[in-house]
Amino acid sequence: MMSSNTRGIHGIWMSRWTFIMAATGSAVGLGNLWKFPYVVGNNGGGAFVLIYFLCMLLVGVPVMMAEVVLGREGRNSPITGMSYVVKNSECGRAWQLIGWIGVIAGLLILSFYAVIAGWGLHYILEVSNGNVIGVDGESAASLFADLTSSPAKLIAWQTIFLGMCLLVVTGGVKKGLGAAVEILMPLLFVMLLVMLIYAILKGNFVAACRFLFEFDIASVSWRAILEAMGLAFFTLSIGMGAIMAYGAYMPEGASIGRTVLIISFFDSIVAIIAGLIIFSIVFSTSGIEPTAGPGLMFISLPVAFGNMPAGQFIGIIFFILVVIAAWSSAISLLEPAAAWLVEAAGFTRFKASFSLVGFVWLLGLGSVFSFNLGKDFTLAGFTIFDGLDFVTSNIFLPVCGLAISVFVGFVMNRDVLSRQMADLEGYLLLIKTPSSSKTLSLRVVWDWVLRFVAPIAITAIFFMGVYDNIRF
Ligand code: PHE
Repeated sequence: MMSSNTRGIHGIWMSRWTFIMAATGSAVGLGNLWKFPYVVGNNGGGAFVLIYFLCMLLVGVPVMMAEVVLGREGRNSPITGMSYVVKNSECGRAWQLIGWIGVIAGLLILSFYAVIAGWGLHYILEVSNGNVIGVDGESAASLFADLTSSPAKLIAWQTIFLGMCLLVVTGGVKKGLGAAVEILMPLLFVMLLVMLIYAILKGNFVAACRFLFEFDIASVSWRAILEAMGLAFFTLSIGMGAIMAYGAYMPEGASIGRTVLIISFFDSIVAIIAGLIIFSIVFSTSGIEPTAGPGLMFISLPVAFGNMPAGQFIGIIFFILVVIAAWSSAISLLEPAAAWLVEAAGFTRFKASFSLVGFVWLLGLGSVFSFNLGKDFTLAGFTIFDGLDFVTSNIFLPVCGLAISVFVGFVMNRDVLSRQMADLEGYLLLIKTPSSSKTLSLRVVWDWVLRFVAPIAITAIFFMGVYDNIRF
């Protein structure tokens, strides 16, 4: 049998750290900087944050580990990789759909993700030109409306952003993705630190801490728990092919469990720091509500930047940070499909990435027009933008996450799984009851989570998402 290191045709990351940076780049994105703060704002703060962390640790991390296992065993794009793993597990071929759903979901997400990332690009310019200096809520809202009501502007920014993704993915695993994340991720952390120091010095840091960490257990509802879980999945990039594709390039000896823990630690810490920064700034300017919703970043923050000392400079850094975070996520949405076109159709990297970017661009026009010309074109209450967000986050993501847990939990070839996860068996937990004590390996706990905890939790998110959003 071929060694699994040489089975893939795309190469391997330079080191385990490159994988960690790439996967952290995928995980840290608009989900952390844009969605997390406003969802926390809408759900009352502290208690929601705690639940979010528990969901992340108890369900998100185990499922992410399962996705990396599938990637590293498959050693190719999710589609080709899954067909290899399925063949080796002697089970129904329908399980290969996991790869297909991931690749398709990735492209669908990218189509609207690129539009929002484009807003970030536009705001770098807007803040640099001094257009937010001294603005109040109303003029910030109309500045934002000027952007979203103009298809030409939205298309221009979406095109530039997709061009940036093309540039990286064309370069391949080592010279493209690997090299990009090795520059972008350290830069992102430095910028985040600068912003944090600014927030502590000039913002209302105490109010932000209170909002994020003070918790009132009475405000926890079942809804909030499910919403926290959905968000944890989205921000960890689970179920979209991205982590599977990146896992395929992971060096053989590295521990999947420890690596995934590090990635999820970075992902959560960025969400928390982003929350602290955004709320410190928001609370320092009177008249802005933390529950502002999706406009928090593009309306509330510009008002704050326009009225704070050195706000223009900090505002520029902030929106560059947003774009870098979105960029390093977007490349992981493009890579699964690009790798597959290279394998299956013999395309060069450039031809594969170029045709996919063209396709995503066209699809993205639907999201562009959802904010202007096509605002009233809705299906079951959704514009195209909302519909794509809903279908990917609430249907594709849970279905794929569930399939991954059940496949790795019950169906996958046990010998292969034990080889991939050998190190987990070495970690023992001591369970003590008054009458006896027992040791349990982490491997057993992980299997148990994949078989029972994750499927139940994911099924619950699925039904909540569908029930809440569909209006007939
Ligand atoms: N995790 C990214 C974010 O938080 C979004 C993403 C989802 C990226 C799925 C890749 C795959 O913004």
